[in-house]
Amino acid sequence: MSNMKPNRILVTSALPYINGVKHMGNLAGSMLPADVYSRAMRLMGHEVLYICATDEHGTPAELAAAEAGLSVSDYCDKMHNAQKAAGADFKLSYDYFGRSSSDATHRLTQDFALDLETNGFIEERTSQQVYSIADGRYLPDRYVEGTCPNCDFEAARGDQCDNCGKLLDPIDLINPYSAVSGSHDVEIRETNHLYLKQSEMSGRLRDWVESHRADWPALTTSIAMKWLDEGLRDRAITRDLTWGVPVLGADGNVREGFEGKVFYVWFDAPIAYIGATQDWAKATGGDWEAYWRTDKGANDTRYVQFMGKDNVAFHTLSFPTTILGSAQPWKLVDELKAFNWVTWYGGKFSTSQKRGVFMDQAIDIAPSDYWRWHLMANAPESSDAAFTWEDFQANINSDLANVLGNFVNRITSYCVKKFVGAVPDGGIITDAEKWIEAELDMRLPQLVKYYEAREFRKAMAETRAIWAAGNEYLTQAAPWTHYKTDVDQAAMGVRVGLNLVALFGVLAQPIIPDAAKKILDAMNIPEENRTWTFRGAGACLNALPIGLNISAPPVLFTKIETDDIEAWTERFGGEG
Ligand code: 2FM
Ligand code: ZN
Repeated sequence: MSNMKPNRILVTSALPYINGVKHMGNLAGSMLPADVYSRAMRLMGHEVLYICATDEHGTPAELAAAEAGLSVSDYCDKMHNAQKAAGADFKLSYDYFGRSSSDATHRLTQDFALDLETNGFIEERTSQQVYSIADGRYLPDRYVEGTCPNCDFEAARGDQCDNCGKLLDPIDLINPYSAVSGSHDVEIRETNHLYLKQSEMSGRLRDWVESHRADWPALTTSIAMKWLDEGLRDRAITRDLTWGVPVLGADGNVREGFEGKVFYVWFDAPIAYIGATQDWAKATGGDWEAYWRTDKGANDTRYVQFMGKDNVAFHTLSFPTTILGSAQPWKLVDELKAFNWVTWYGGKFSTSQKRGVFMDQAIDIAPSDYWRWHLMANAPESSDAAFTWEDFQANINSDLANVLGNFVNRITSYCVKKFVGAVPDGGIITDAEKWIEAELDMRLPQLVKYYEAREFRKAMAETRAIWAAGNEYLTQAAPWTHYKTDVDQAAMGVRVGLNLVALFGVLAQPIIPDAAKKILDAMNIPEENRTWTFRGAGACLNALPIGLNISAPPVLFTKIETDDIEAWTERFGGEG
């Protein structure tokens, strides 16, 4: 039923930063939609590679490690495993979950930098930076604080004053001090860094973004265009830090003057998409070049990225500068799906203020299917979307428990009770069967179209509408009424109902994989018949062989009680 010919598709979701397990907003805006999309495309017969990894470099990783009392590398090992486990709990079907700290990413980062420099897109420049004598390190912009030169606010951050909003240069702060240690023993020193000359790529980037106006979401192109219109600035892509990718010269030794410096985390993070694909290939024998090298087949690969809106500039401007500036046949992204924020009752998620649920906590309070359904049905596509416990309860109880769960349960247990648990034969086609067939013939192609366009809210709404149509069919066909006078006609309703159960299970797989599996197992559907090769609604409604033994699946969804949401509000915050 898919309009697309079988394709090779590379999917990546923004690499979660290493310094903690992610909250539900992070999940909803990158990893989860990437997973749902990957699953749907696999079911349609495409060859999908879904790659993700932890983003492990940078100052926040160093500071979080220090706070945890671990070396940075031990801390990253630990948090990588924690994030990997959280992903598995949410059934994220990564083909590979790698690490930006891997050798592959280190090597690629260094090679990219050398190519960029050869082509004139990297230049070494001298800048002034705040050095903390007490901390024995240069301070990244936001770790210098002091008095704002604009409004006299005394705790302005080096990158921006939170009081008057002015963008700052840390060397302009009055009475600067280290936000790491609080020490005032700081001085301004001159230091050299590599700069990526994004400004010189502006024209090519603009043409490229322009060429995607029709197929990228407006959110994506508007963010990219805003930066281009303001004028791209050259950016330092190295930092005075020890944790990260060392800066090497062409001879393979540390570049002169770059001892104690590494690449900026945002320079190597997107390169880790490639590095993690290489690591996948190493682990599986797969062909990474077919995904990344346009001279080795990657022109036949469709590359789809998923991310929150704060990541868009890095993926539409800086990473493409890296790719294009290298003048090597690297693959650029084809489709870029960006999301707004999921908010916690309209505000920010915050661990310290007990606001919001993080992935490891979420799984303790409700099965992953519940979160997956709720977050995708309310995906923050056209605007930010507020999470509330009340909406969560309403979505689960109504869509999953009432509309889907009751349908499956009602018809399967009736079949077990009245038709010895076997798909029954008999009956004639009535208006009810004609109605559901027409309904599916309209809705199934629509659903496929929404998945292909990565319109998740619409795909979920269509799925819900299909489940609701099943209930409507049963009301019209009323096998329980027919049973008293015309068992054959009751058999028709049960048979069509069971075929709908199987279809609903098939359709549910990308979104709620656990419940889908329970349904399909209960319906005795072999693995190879779980794919999305719909040959029209007529075929869907007659897919199950007559006499096939089925059972009633175990309870699929338990309703969320008001007591539950009161307890969760107490624990994780809510209104007020
Ligand atoms: O925003 C973030 O959490 C970043 N770690 C995303 C990186 S995406 C990619 F470039 F690696
Ligand atoms: Zn100020």
